[in-house]
Amino acid sequence: MAHEDDALERASYKPSPGLAVAVNDPVRNPELPPHRARMTDKDPAAMTRAVRAVYSLFYLSVAASIWAVAAYMIFPIESGRIVDIRNNNLFIGLGIGLALLAIGIGAIHWSKAIMSDKEWIEPRHATRGRDETRAGAVEVFAVANEESGFGRRTMIRNSLIAALAASVIPGITLFRGLAPQNSPENPNAGDPVYLLSHTMWEEGMRLAHDPEGTPIRAADVTLGSAVHVIPAPLAELSHHDGYLEEKAKAIVLLMRLLPEDLIEAEDRKDWSYDGIVAYSKVCTHVGCPVALYEQQTHHLLCPCHQSQFDVTNGAAVIFGPAARPLPQLPITVDDEGYLVARSDFEEPVGPSFWERH
Ligand code: FES
Repeated sequence: MAHEDDALERASYKPSPGLAVAVNDPVRNPELPPHRARMTDKDPAAMTRAVRAVYSLFYLSVAASIWAVAAYMIFPIESGRIVDIRNNNLFIGLGIGLALLAIGIGAIHWSKAIMSDKEWIEPRHATRGRDETRAGAVEVFAVANEESGFGRRTMIRNSLIAALAASVIPGITLFRGLAPQNSPENPNAGDPVYLLSHTMWEEGMRLAHDPEGTPIRAADVTLGSAVHVIPAPLAELSHHDGYLEEKAKAIVLLMRLLPEDLIEAEDRKDWSYDGIVAYSKVCTHVGCPVALYEQQTHHLLCPCHQSQFDVTNGAAVIFGPAARPLPQLPITVDDEGYLVARSDFEEPVGPSFWERH
């Protein structure tokens, strides 16, 4: 009986005005509200305005992409100045964001105000690769092409193509930042400079307590202690001058062990001072601060994903996802007994993906 009722209902269905039926199969009336014409359907001037708005948005996207590329040149990170790096990130990000936003808004406006909003009733049926089905699919594409106006509305089509093409250019430009740069002081120097590989440590720079900036005497570092250390001049930097950015790269942990407990490579024997060693505090996994020191085992633990590093053995990884040891800061003492760096780190600090070269 139910089948007969369904058949009767389907046979009596008539699509309401404004509804189009995709195929000839009889279907239930979904009782959609009557179709309401949009302003752009009734008023040609409104349609013209909508078309203009859409292609203006797409061209705005092109302009934003060009701005992103220009920002890369105007604020070169090669200068090494924190303010330039910050502006570089800010304005490139704004350019790319605006470019994608304009494409998105333009596409939505196009579909809402210009493309046909005729409602379709599409009956469900088994998906089969019949010839009729395939012919129907081709027909749907043809209708969609016609209704979207993609073929006819050349201004919108061309502006969209330009916007999409321009939107990938900033991304390509950014890859340049991964390439080695020549030194800003000597642009013709043969040795490339990896900007992200350097911190503010340099030869003779005193090690100081974080955050006060008080220099540390070797004699004051007690056996078994772990001290959070920054370069002494960092304490003088204001936040505006990049205090946090420099600290994020340069911060180290200082520990004192019995000298006989240290296993040091031949070429690193002078990197420690009387059992005092300094290692980057930035985890080589994804950059969390490695802040937990286990005095008894001489292990450093990263709280984020539990990587453990053996301080007695060059901070080698003994557990967890980190792929390489914590970089060691070579240290010694100056004439007054204060701990000083022998040089910058010899390898990039932080996550291992910096080790591209
Ligand atoms: S960031 Fe240290 S283990 Fe993941």
